[in-house]
Amino acid sequence: MNARDEPQSNRHVPAGVSRDGHRDQILTSLEETASHYKAILETTVDAIITIDCQGIVQTFNAAAEKIFGYRAEEVIGNKVNMLMPEPYRSEHDGYIGRYLKTGVPKIIGTGRQVNGLRKDGTEFPMDLAVSEVPLKDKRLFAGIIRDVTERILLEEQLVQSTKLAAVGRLISGIAHEVNNPVSIIKLHIASVMQNIESQKLPEDLIETLKVIQRQNNKIGQIISGLQAFSRQGSFSPDWISVNQTVHTALRLVENTLQNQDIVYQAELEESLPKVFLDPIRIEQVLLNLFNNAIEAMPGGGVLTVSTTLETDQTDEDWVVVRIRDTGTGIEEEHLTQLFDPFFTTKEVGEGTGLGLSVSYGLI
Ligand SMILES: Nc1ncnc2c1ncn2[C@@H]1O[C@H](COP(=O)(O)OP(=O)(O)OP(=O)(O)O)[C@@H](O)[C@H]1O
Ligand SMILES: [Mg+2]
Repeated sequence: MNARDEPQSNRHVPAGVSRDGHRDQILTSLEETASHYKAILETTVDAIITIDCQGIVQTFNAAAEKIFGYRAEEVIGNKVNMLMPEPYRSEHDGYIGRYLKTGVPKIIGTGRQVNGLRKDGTEFPMDLAVSEVPLKDKRLFAGIIRDVTERILLEEQLVQSTKLAAVGRLISGIAHEVNNPVSIIKLHIASVMQNIESQKLPEDLIETLKVIQRQNNKIGQIISGLQAFSRQGSFSPDWISVNQTVHTALRLVENTLQNQDIVYQAELEESLPKVFLDPIRIEQVLLNLFNNAIEAMPGGGVLTVSTTLETDQTDEDWVVVRIRDTGTGIEEEHLTQLFDPFFTTKEVGEGTGLGLSVSYGLI
């Protein structure tokens, strides 16, 4: 439009309003719109990041600052792949280039879950949706990012709880059925053993009976372990001192620690707030963890228990108990199975693989 056309474009100017006044009005309304969008951008809970065709960050909103731990000025003007761990980091340049050349999008227009990298070096799972923003003179890409750490954790917990609930039902059925014959055998052997002298049984038969008795008792112990696992049980919480509970549980393994040359180290934070818990359950959990630690240090070592008060990202306070040992450690490939009922790396008869799944259920 050239200057001579202008009078025509002023057709809608209300009577009595000058051309300058009209321009001011438009500017004001543009400013209002801009600040309106800026406010939305800065208050949304999702991170919104825009980049140009070279992958250089143009905008970085407040939620992005919170999620990634960078201030906007530390990121704007730099390549966006600073927010990505490998292998995404190296692949990203090639990815934009390919898209610009072929027009075939991989993520653009859709969403997917990838990993992000925070300033402190930690990786986290995030949902990423990328859209292309075609402007008059350039193309921008906008990424909307949601930190899904919490959601993934909850999903995993749900899967684990569902698995435990199903196994729990199966186990309580089996335990109940097996318990009857085991109790009957126990009673009968006990009565035979009582009269062992008068019956004048041959030595080797007595030995055999003792083996049967020991093995039957073992079955009985496994059954009670299984029942502890599947029992919904009563829950009697109270305001308790976690440090006190740690001491109580420790007393139960004190002798074993001494016998096995294990040094106990306590790093208990004083003046922790009380927490609302069932102390018996927590003792049981601690006992399972202590036993695992002891079993992992057959040649001696150090068992460390620490308690601390920690605040999470949502500003909630937690009393955290950590148990550390200097034992064999856990193979990386076993980590995902630790809480599965019956997962054990111990010899037959040495571990049922229920300690951690019972603890998980209790927690
Ligand atoms: N502190 C630890 N050090 C090394 N490995 C461990 C430790 N804690 C657990 N594990 C591994 O996890 C597995 C499962 O532990 P869990 O307590 O559930 O069962 P378990 O100790 O094998 O048997 P149970 O507790 O029923 O006697 C163990 O067999 C072991 O491989
Ligand atoms: Mg165990």
